[in-house]
Amino acid sequence: MVKEKGIKEIEDLPGIGPTTAEKLKASGHDTLEKIAVLDPHELAELSGMSVDNAKKAVEAAKNATILEFSTGAQVYEQRKSIGRITTGSKELDDLLGGGLEAKSITEAYGKFASGKTQLGFQLSVNVQLPVGSGGMGGKTLFIDTESTFRPERIEAISKAAGLNPEEALSNVLVVHTQNTEQQILAIEKADKTIQENNIKLIVVDSLMALFRSEFPGRGALGERQQKLNSHIHKLQRLADVYNLAVYVTNQVMDNPAILFGDPTTPVGGNIMAHAATTRLYLRKSKEDKRIIRLVDSPSMPEGEAVMKITPNGIKD
Ligand code: GTP
Ligand code: MG
Repeated sequence: MVKEKGIKEIEDLPGIGPTTAEKLKASGHDTLEKIAVLDPHELAELSGMSVDNAKKAVEAAKNATILEFSTGAQVYEQRKSIGRITTGSKELDDLLGGGLEAKSITEAYGKFASGKTQLGFQLSVNVQLPVGSGGMGGKTLFIDTESTFRPERIEAISKAAGLNPEEALSNVLVVHTQNTEQQILAIEKADKTIQENNIKLIVVDSLMALFRSEFPGRGALGERQQKLNSHIHKLQRLADVYNLAVYVTNQVMDNPAILFGDPTTPVGGNIMAHAATTRLYLRKSKEDKRIIRLVDSPSMPEGEAVMKITPNGIKD
């Protein structure tokens, strides 16, 4: 991006002084491009400035950023630099095109005991591996909404991965949330934690459970979907701004409209379906085997992989 002369940094924007700039930077909005794409209301909320002034600042940021076109080859090069995290299973990594991708949301849905949480544990450990060895050399922020976080599993999985289990455990920051307000706040207030701890993976296990129990029935659906939408957009923002991966688990229901074939459908409706860049459907097979179906991906064909849940974590 090329900037118009005069306005080079966010401090140069009208209405944004050093203090406001600091505030914005603390929430990851440190470039003109990031301000340019903000909704003025969001900027007003983030900075404390009036909506009118925020409109002017966004407009100026837009004018100061000129979009340069990249060739497909350049985009391809840039995409190769996006971080990836190994799942522990070569087959599943291949299905995903090289592991879980940063800057996007990956959703795993499936019935109970299908392995959604176990995969979350495995990724929480693997993200700590160095870049080039299947990790991103970073830590995990684990939002536990169902009280199913088990440090024993992190310990066992990290040992098997050749990491120091004590260190591995201290590199997983767990937030236990009991209602949707806490869940939403955990993400809204995550910027500082992410910056200070080099968080490279956010796990939300499960994304929908609290939303479902707090907003039951059709009457509450509109409000639920609105809150969910905003929550998911904030997750996507964190993924983009900090080049980190987001892994969310989701529950399922039987869709009565599907008369033939598998009626298992992820909950969360269209909002969830659009927000997840990659969707995985996990189901139980024999014993410790699990079948994973890639349902939706921007770049990989639909397909299936088989993984095993072992005492040492996810394996082929
Ligand atoms: P819900 O949260 O209930 O919807 O299920 P989930 O998809 O999150 O299931 P989870 O990932 O917790 O998988 C549970 C399954 O993992 C259990 O049924 C076990 O088969 C397996 N599992 C969990 N811990 C171990 C372990 O230490 N060793 C082995 N071999 N399997 C384990
Ligand atoms: Mg679970």
